[in-house]
Amino acid sequence: MTEGLLSPDNALLAEHIGERRVCAFVSPTVNRLYGERLRGYFRTRLPASSWTLSVIPAGEQNKSLVTVEQVCASAKEAALDRNGVMVAIGGGVTTDVVGFAASIYARGVRYIRLNTTLVGQVDAGVGVKTGVNALGSKNMFGAYHAPHASINDAAFLDTLPRRDVLCGLAEIIKMAVIRDDGLFRSLEQHPGIFHRDARPRRANVEEHVIRTSIRLMLEELCPNLRELNLARPVDFGHTFSPAIETASGYRVAHGEAVAIDMAVSSHLARLLGICDAEECERIVDLIVDLGLPIFDETCTPELMQHALRASWERRGRRLNIVVPTRVGSIRFIDDLDDLPGSAIEETLKALQARVRSVGGRFPVSAWSSR
Ligand SMILES: NC(=O)c1ccc[n+]([C@@H]2O[C@H](COP(=O)([O-])OP(=O)(O)OC[C@H]3O[C@@H](n4cnc5c(N)ncnc54)[C@H](O)[C@@H]3O)[C@@H](O)[C@H]2O)c1
Repeated sequence: MTEGLLSPDNALLAEHIGERRVCAFVSPTVNRLYGERLRGYFRTRLPASSWTLSVIPAGEQNKSLVTVEQVCASAKEAALDRNGVMVAIGGGVTTDVVGFAASIYARGVRYIRLNTTLVGQVDAGVGVKTGVNALGSKNMFGAYHAPHASINDAAFLDTLPRRDVLCGLAEIIKMAVIRDDGLFRSLEQHPGIFHRDARPRRANVEEHVIRTSIRLMLEELCPNLRELNLARPVDFGHTFSPAIETASGYRVAHGEAVAIDMAVSSHLARLLGICDAEECERIVDLIVDLGLPIFDETCTPELMQHALRASWERRGRRLNIVVPTRVGSIRFIDDLDDLPGSAIEETLKALQARVRSVGGRFPVSAWSSR
């Protein structure tokens, strides 16, 4: 983590680039907001004609092989050699696409992630996974390709739309539920966290939450970087969510789908007697209080069953659903047989009823009335 990353006085990025040729890639929004400063930084810190900056399409629909080929084509045109480095500046889509392109371009070149979203800073920017959507599935193609560096500057979050902030908060709630009641309590105490207009702005709490989340994520990923063990606590919220995202045509964003999945998984744990009602309510309440969804119309029992089947296949013919036993601790549900269809139906009904009880609207700004 650094401050003033794009200030010409900050040597961090230039030091990681060293003498290498650079092909940098941004999404259109990040180009609009930060393109000039990026170009200014490169102009000041790097030799002329050693770098290019290209704009690539954003959005889940463009997280595709077509965009990967576009990245590789730009790199080839700029004569990026095997010593060169790609730099991805943006959210998880941009870093996943450029990371995957870097893993296959000339059989693999270095890449640096500058994570400009909260999801990027606490999640996509932390591990070694890259990839694109294909064949109707999320992240169908990809590679484990460690970044040469992954750099965060919290100032990027000042321009991030609230919806994207909330998606990052979903991943932070995930880490809190699986590992850390203290982190969970920080979120409970500061439901306006990362809100641009929140006063007083608690930069120290925000930094603590980002750093804690990254540390917990690193501790979870390091022993299992290439996911040889398919029972992963960090998959909490990631059993039903890929199907929800895909079935909604990506109307439901990744973090929103994760939030719904966490509410479903917690409720299932409650119904199966794994988690007591109070702890389940705490989790669902926090998701709602921060302004995230707990249900979507795509969530039919059929879609949930389809999602379970897909997870079971993806996780080596074991279900490995992560459910909380309480905040800060989880266990796995291993077999499809351990999860009766009636529990799923009952869960969906309960969450739908909860949404109806607030008029079908999520209290996005609940925190501000406190
Ligand atoms: N590789 C991994 O381990 C991993 C982990 C988690 C998520 N992901 C992937 O990450 C993706 C989601 O990432 P995301 O939530 O960052 O979404 P995103 O990359 O789609 O970015 C969201 C939007 O915010 C814009 N944006 C980025 N930075 C901004 C800023 N500072 N100010 C204003 N706008 C900005 C982007 O241009 C984009 O339009 C998903 O595809 C998911 O699968 C990957």
